[in-house]
Amino acid sequence: MNTSRGFESTFGAPAEVVGSAPGRVNLLGEHTDYNDGHVLPIAIAQQTRVAIRRSGEREFVLHASMIGQTARFTLDAPPAPHFATYVYGCIAELHARGVEVPPLQIHVESDVPMGVGLSSSAALEVATLRALTGASLDDVQIAQIAQRAEIEHAGVRCGIMDQMASSLADTQRALWLDTMTLERRLVPLPRGSAVLVLDSGIARTLAGSGYNERRAECEEAARLLGVRSLREVDEVAAIEGLPEPLRRRARHVITENARVLQAVQCTDAARFGVLMNASHASLRDDYAVSVPELDRLVAMLQAHPRVYGARLTGAGFGGACVALCAPDALQRVADEVLKAYADAGCQGRQLVPPAG
Ligand code: GLA
Repeated sequence: MNTSRGFESTFGAPAEVVGSAPGRVNLLGEHTDYNDGHVLPIAIAQQTRVAIRRSGEREFVLHASMIGQTARFTLDAPPAPHFATYVYGCIAELHARGVEVPPLQIHVESDVPMGVGLSSSAALEVATLRALTGASLDDVQIAQIAQRAEIEHAGVRCGIMDQMASSLADTQRALWLDTMTLERRLVPLPRGSAVLVLDSGIARTLAGSGYNERRAECEEAARLLGVRSLREVDEVAAIEGLPEPLRRRARHVITENARVLQAVQCTDAARFGVLMNASHASLRDDYAVSVPELDRLVAMLQAHPRVYGARLTGAGFGGACVALCAPDALQRVADEVLKAYADAGCQGRQLVPPAG
């Protein structure tokens, strides 16, 4: 990706500033962040780059080269195209904090896979804020403003995991984050393991509505239990009196938080893998965010002798699976599992590491 060249060929002059940020894959700790819980994402190699230049015009002009779309907007007239609302949201949130952003020409390039649960939207928000603010904000402030942009302007009541991961994680170590206190630590992957991500090929059609519904169920469970968030509950026995499906939703959150805390201590890939497998079962049975194709792909990964563990990753309802594998067998696992998945009539693809 040559962002400067892309900017120049679109706008006819060089960019003044470029900001970049990676996508992420979550290894463990799914649907825990909006319950003030624990998460364990890691950055992926694919990045989004945002190049900007003052335009001297009245409008912002935004071009996204990966989808070949252009949007024009002002602060008072938000853009209609969905991709542009993330950038608009960042500008509007800075404005709300007293940071004036003059009309700009903006060029976006990205190889972060979109719509599969690898946080292409967080990468776009964080890269935009980096370009707009230079070194004046720290990484946590950037993540917090990016999250507000997504909630207020893209309409997803997300937690803070994706933006924190895009802003703070690297590709070699996972980011353990306590989303209540923002205490965090970079933790190495278990010895002798590497990350593989495969796309199930199933579009996440219910992701928006189903996500907000799960969040509302968790809030209702917390209200009935008389706690501020499900993070405050760590004994499964405490939720026995909840009506279904709230009891199962709460059980997922409690057991998933415990799995993240165990995984952070874990240097053994096989034990880490067992936690991933248990996470998938919990997301499927208690949290009900899986679909048959994800279950099938995850089962194929779990059955492979060189895979330690696998689960759906991201919000669910389709999208990607993550697996922890023996590093020397990574490509073999990807090829064999994708072939078996195709033989079963489904079309998947390799996302991480990016296929050569
Ligand atoms: C999406 C949200 C995150 C998180 C995950 C599920 O990626 O943006 O905040 O809730 O789903 O773990």
